[in-house]
Order: sequence, then structure tokens, then C-alpha cells
Amino acid sequence: MSIQEEVQKRKTFAIISHPDAGKTTLTETMLLFGNLIREAGTVKGKKSGKFATSDWMEIEKQRGISVTSSVMNFPYEGYEVNILDTPGHEDFSEDTYRTLTAVDSVVMVIDSTKGIEAQTKKLFKVCRMRGIPIFTFFNKVDREGREPLDLMEEIEEVLEIETYPMNYPAGMGKRFLGTFDRQSNEFVRYLQNGQEERVPYDELEADEYAELRQQEEFQMAQDEVALLDEAGESFSLDAVLAGEQTPVFFGSALAPFGVETFLDSFIEMAPAPGSRQTTEGVVEPTEEDFSGFIFKIQANMNPNHRDRIAFVRICSGKFTRDMSVKLSRTGKTINLSQSQQFVASQRGTIQEAYAGDIIGIYDPNVYHIGDTITESKTPFEFDELPQFPPELYKTVTAKNVMKSKQFYKGIEQLVQEGAIQLFKKFHTESFIVGAVGQLQFDVFQYRMKNEYNSDVMLEDIGERIPRWLKPEQVDESIFDSRSTLVRDREDNPVVLFKNEFSLNLFKDRHPEVDLIDLYEVN
Ligand code: G4P
Repeated sequence: MSIQEEVQKRKTFAIISHPDAGKTTLTETMLLFGNLIREAGTVKGKKSGKFATSDWMEIEKQRGISVTSSVMNFPYEGYEVNILDTPGHEDFSEDTYRTLTAVDSVVMVIDSTKGIEAQTKKLFKVCRMRGIPIFTFFNKVDREGREPLDLMEEIEEVLEIETYPMNYPAGMGKRFLGTFDRQSNEFVRYLQNGQEERVPYDELEADEYAELRQQEEFQMAQDEVALLDEAGESFSLDAVLAGEQTPVFFGSALAPFGVETFLDSFIEMAPAPGSRQTTEGVVEPTEEDFSGFIFKIQANMNPNHRDRIAFVRICSGKFTRDMSVKLSRTGKTINLSQSQQFVASQRGTIQEAYAGDIIGIYDPNVYHIGDTITESKTPFEFDELPQFPPELYKTVTAKNVMKSKQFYKGIEQLVQEGAIQLFKKFHTESFIVGAVGQLQFDVFQYRMKNEYNSDVMLEDIGERIPRWLKPEQVDESIFDSRSTLVRDREDNPVVLFKNEFSLNLFKDRHPEVDLIDLYEVN
């Protein structure tokens, strides 16, 4: 098969949701349809305590969660599906956001009894701002949920995106009858044993459906569908691919109901890997030369070895097991012979992979997050990964001052790896670390101790708003405790404002100072 054909087969996406919306259940059901696992419940042993694919780190086991996004791959209807899992909001880290740079689309799972929940709003918004195609799955229609139109309106308002219901539910909870499938023009009846019966619209008039037709839920949904057909948005694949319209599906991951329909339409509509911007111009996925970038580094999956795995999103060409590539940042050649690919609950070695696939490669401590590896004779780098504004800040100090060497080494490496963001006080060697979620601090503290033998103390300093300064505009006398002057890891001057109020006050008082917001998303 040609590279072109291989690339067209790839569908690489992330599933994002609020915890408990049903992401795990939906993933398991999709894997079932992909015939990858015999029994649901092997993806994540969250509650059942079963084997969990991503329970690599002790901390994950302790908390029973998956800290870092895991990767699943399965063949489905002639396609190669790659699913990247992302942790829920309490477990947020920059990894969660960076995962979005490695996918071509996202599936947003929303609990239809709840709608969009506060903490995940930001993750959804990041997708929206980056223009990633978003597919929405309203889950749990087998429970009493909110009105479908109300749920869609919320998405339109919060994400400023058009919605197009691909199917529409008649009733919910105990009174859930099925869905109107607007693509096939069939009513998909929900039968209690989890089976689906597809009835073409024009056959609904038959006597055997008289009882169904008379039910209020059916009639209401039918009216609403007619209204949507007449006055609602029209479907546009171009708008979907531009991230401006989201196809909406209603179903139940648990029943399961509507999952196969969802998967089939999703697979058809979701984009294959596209071109990517680099320092040397655009790279097409079908180019002969292999290239990819590292979006995540996971350390110490095996505590007996200092083993790290770098996760690579392949952006062009074909990967083979024993190939050599160049690391663009250093120009050094690296042999990738120990590569691994993650498939559901196994860690198997792969022979080849193509643009769109995610591979895990052994990292002998040479990679940084955002690194490009390529076979190309003229090395290039993919666009830098965006940095996301930390939401939490803490001062960090070594418990044992005698061990400062380990402390500095640990901080340097973990910061370089992208595990945490670092700021240094202006004239002292005091450090402030920033993260987007509490868990990132826990992991940082754990790894400092376990990998660098450095016990650290973290002290909360609350929220901060960082703004960068031009070096020539640094005048130390104008800053106070509400606007702390610090340096970033590369010694660029930054002000950490205590809140929006102190930021605005400063702007009023010092209009001559340029405050630069380096973060793409706020
Ligand atoms: P998450 O990964 O997004 O955190 O959610 P997960 O799939 O673990 O689902 C959270 C809870 O919601 C689970 O129940 C799960 O069984 C339930 N659930 C998921 N999809 C559906 C659905 O379509 N309908 C209904 N009614 N429930 C659904 P739990 O009691 O918390 O856990 P468990 O003991 O059932 O595993």
C-alpha cells in the first residue's frame, strides 16, 4: 500500500470530557466494536481495581487515575484508529493540552444530564481556539437528561460553534424511545435488551408502529426534527473540518446505544492527517521522509530502570523499526531501534507506522518536549508547542540544603522536560513553579524525590497572572508585592500580577511599560 493510502486510513483523535461523563465507557465500547478487547473494563481499572494500561507510575496507582494520556490503536472498517486519552480536570496537566497538538480531531463527551461542566470548559475552548474539528457525543440518554435543544444551545454559547444534530433523541431516561437518524432518515428504536431496530421514516406509518407514533416523546421529537430541518443550520463538512460546526450525536455509551452509528459517521467525517507548518515550510503527511515531534515524555514507567518514553506524533512518511533519524535541535543522529507502540493493554514492539500514528520511543535522556525528529536531509522543526498559562503557583525549596546539587539538577531536567513551568525570583535563587493542575505539583514532588533524591517543600502562593517585559523596560522600583518581578527559565523578565485588579492598576500607572502575554490561550 502506498504512503498516500496508509495516511488516508489514519484517524487520530483525543476524547475529552469531564470526569464521569462516560469517556472510559465510550472508549471501551468503541474498542469492543473494533473487536480489540473481549470484555469491557480492561481500559482503565479505575473502580474495579483491574489491570490498568496506564498505571505506570506509583502515583497513578495510589490515586487510581491515569496521570498521563495513554494511547490506543485499533483497526476499524479499513481504518487505523488512534485514540489518545486525556485525564479529567482534577488531573489536568500541561500534558492534557499538549495532547491536542498531536491529534487531528477531538470527541467531546458530555453527560446529557449535566451539560458542559465548569472545569472542562477551558479544555473545550482550547480545541475551539486551535480550530480542531470537534465531534460531540451527548452521553447517558438512558437517564433523565436536559432538553436536547437546551444542551446544544449551551455548546453554541460557550464555544461559539454551530451545532448540527446528526441524530435526535425521542425521550430520555425511562422514556427513551430511540433517535431520529438525520443522515439515513431512519428512526433507530431502542429496544430494552440494548438492541437497535432501524425503521426508515416512510415505514413508520405502518400499523406495527402505531403505538410508537402515539407516544408524546416521539411526537415532540418528530416536531423538533422537522423544525431543525426547516430552520436549523445546514450540515457542512467544510465547517466541521474548520472547527466551526460540531456534529452532535446522542447516545448511551453504557447501553450501548448509538455508539456504532457515532463511530461510523465519525470515521467517515473525521479528517485524515493533514499538512504541518515547519521552519522550512509546509510538510505534507505523504512525503517520503519520516518526520514527527515529541509531545509528551513519560519517565520511570519502570522504576528499576531510568527508562523514559517519548511520545511521537508522526507527521510525515513511514516509520520503520530500525531507522535512524536526526534530532533537529542538536543535529545528532539517533537510532530508533527500541521503538514501541502502545496498543490498548499491551506494550508491543511495532514494525512500521505512518503519518498520523503515535509511537512511543525509548528516550536515553536526550529529548525535550516539542523536539522534531526527521529523516530529511535538511532538518527542520515543527512549530513550537504552545505554552499554557499556569493557574497555580508555588514556591519550591529543598528540605535539605545540603542536597542542593540534586535539587538544581532535578528542577532543571523536569522543567526542560516540560513537566512544570519555572520562574526565578529576581536577585535570589528562589524558585516559583507554575502548573495548570494540582496533580502536576504532586508528580513534580514525587519525581524530585524518587528520581533526584531531593525532598522539596511546596508553598502555595495562589493565582498569578504572568506578563513578560522587554529587558530594556525593567525598572525594579516600580514593582511591589502585587506585581512580583521574576525571570523565566531563560532569564527573560516576567511580572507575576496578583490578580486582574493589580494588572489593570499597573497598566494605568505605567502605560509606558509593554506587558506581553506569551500564552496562546487564556
Ligand atoms: P469517565 O471515564 O468520563 O470518568 O466516565 P466513566 O466511563 O468511568 O463513567 C462514569 C460513570 O457513568 C460510570 O458509573 C459509568 O458506568 C456511567 N456511565 C457511562 N456511560 C453511561 C451511560 O450511557 N448511561 C448511564 N446510565 N451511565 C453511564 P459508575 O457507577 O460511576 O461506575 P461503574 O461502577 O459503573 O463502573
